[in-house]
Amino acid sequence: MRQAGRSLPEYRAIRGSGTILDAIADPDLSTEITLQPIRRYDVDAAILYSDIVVPAHAIGFGLTVTPGVGPEVEKPFRHEDDLTRLRPLDPEADTPYVLETVRQLVAELDRPLIGFAGAPFTVASYLIEGRPSRDYVNTKALMFANEPLWHALCDRLADLAITSLRSQIDNGAAAIQLFDSWAGSLSPAQYQRYVFPHSQKVLDAIADTGVPRIHFGVTTGELLPQIAATGADVVGVDWRVPLEAARERVGDSKALQGNLDPTVAFAGVDIACDAAREVLAANAGHPGHVFNLGHGVMPTTDPDVLTEVVRVVHEEGVVADRATESS
Ligand code: CP3
Repeated sequence: MRQAGRSLPEYRAIRGSGTILDAIADPDLSTEITLQPIRRYDVDAAILYSDIVVPAHAIGFGLTVTPGVGPEVEKPFRHEDDLTRLRPLDPEADTPYVLETVRQLVAELDRPLIGFAGAPFTVASYLIEGRPSRDYVNTKALMFANEPLWHALCDRLADLAITSLRSQIDNGAAAIQLFDSWAGSLSPAQYQRYVFPHSQKVLDAIADTGVPRIHFGVTTGELLPQIAATGADVVGVDWRVPLEAARERVGDSKALQGNLDPTVAFAGVDIACDAAREVLAANAGHPGHVFNLGHGVMPTTDPDVLTEVVRVVHEEGVVADRATESS
């Protein structure tokens, strides 16, 4: 469950008042924050406490993550010249704190750690818009009007993601997730032309590591066959697409991840647990299902409801052998 920690009182108690980038730069704090949802919910894997904009921040692109808003860029990416602001990432020198957090977690955890990166389109959308957006008008305008610059930008962002993911895997991450959260703003033809080659490049470049590769976006129902074709081993599905329909679009060769609507947690334990049972049933008879929410945990979620949802999934879902999975 992404951002499972943010609804926890123990998270708010230690998070501090700086930006999340300050918290991420502190390995002891980030390790503790990553472990909190494991202790609370007993979920089967931990997801690293970091953010998709950390590599761009670390190479000095000039961005922050404003609490309650999200990533904001001082001087948005608009021109050819801005490419020089995106030099290659040197993980040991630029993000030593991420690698230290990964190492501490791997030493402490009795279950897999999931590392992650932002996919080129979604990171580009923050760099170009300068803030979270509803319509991605500047991003799409640049893509349509200056295709060579778009591809040059995405090529650099793909390299950032590859370098970051490889460094997390080298330090012990047992699976990775590539987040293309906002790719659902594109039509299938747009996705194919402007985005697919770059996400495929990222996933291809880490195929030799053998770690499972999860690929996720929101409102990607129409794009699921293409998202699967990028090479992902696990395809994330939001709650808008029934898992049965996702299965038809993706086929039986991949696992699905998802897709409980995060808002059902607000309807109380019984309704949330019934909805979780429906999600489990929707994949019945098919291989490979990582139970998850269809998107991140909402900040005002009652943690006790999620505790019960996890209990139902453990009792009624088919749980993979943890020892086998983490070996
Ligand atoms: O699950 C976890 O807590 C693990 C760490 C994690 C964070 N961000 C921490 C975070 C992960 C995996 C992410 C990924 C991320 N970041 C995505 C892709 C996943 C998705 O949800 O679609 C995106 C699009 C971002 C960019 C971003 N960073 C947004 C949209 C926000 C939220 C702004 C808000 O407050 O609503 C952030 C800030 C952020 N990153 C928080 C957390 C826990 C919020 C709280 C805080 O600042 O402490």
